[in-house]
Amino acid sequence: MLSEQDRMKKIVGEEAAAFVKDGMKVGLGSGSTVYWMIRKLGELVENGLKIEGIPSSTQTENWAHEFGVPLTDFSKVNKLDITIDGADEVDENLHMIKGGGAALFREKIIAQAAKELIIIVDASKMVTNLGKYPLPVEILPFAWERTANEISKLGCVPKLRKKDAEILISDNGNYILDCPFNVITDPTNLNEEIKRIVGVVETGLFIGMATRIIVGDGENINIVE
Ligand code: A5P
Repeated sequence: MLSEQDRMKKIVGEEAAAFVKDGMKVGLGSGSTVYWMIRKLGELVENGLKIEGIPSSTQTENWAHEFGVPLTDFSKVNKLDITIDGADEVDENLHMIKGGGAALFREKIIAQAAKELIIIVDASKMVTNLGKYPLPVEILPFAWERTANEISKLGCVPKLRKKDAEILISDNGNYILDCPFNVITDPTNLNEEIKRIVGVVETGLFIGMATRIIVGDGENINIVE
């Protein structure tokens, strides 16, 4: 029996899979909402849909194998037709915070490579201002304390992400800082300021990248464009 939130994730995940058409190269995001989308794509592939995906995390790669979604990579493909991904927060301008699953760097690559970026969320992720969700920032392990200190000057106390008491290592071999800004009034500027700091690999701020948000809200699905 699925929780109400998981039921929403399943509905929007399956809805998004319907945007994937024959012959498309598809960016596969990460996270528990994307799981349902990949599962659905697996069914469609079994019924004859011909696509190739590029995964944004080892977890997603494993799901693609599990559900029979064929994969490719950027040595063979330069542009994606569509990328489908989840988000941690989406504001009224469709700017987003992502990276709750530590996959933000590869997610940003597949977002930038795609003609269309569809984001699938339940209504709890839609916010007026970004920032309640601590902003994930991927950084190099070397001098991470200094990098964290530089980010703190922008108005937060960064926390090094851990998993089972060990420092979490991203799929790229890096660290993740979770940065609680509380309210981000100018996400574009904050993104640029963080990216100027040497040691920062990528931020979880996705500015102006989403083309369509599929929001699950109770019995309804709303599409925001
Ligand atoms: C992964 O790094 C994230 O960007 C996810 O897309 C985000 O955390 C949403 O995940 P859920 O669908 O599990 O909420």
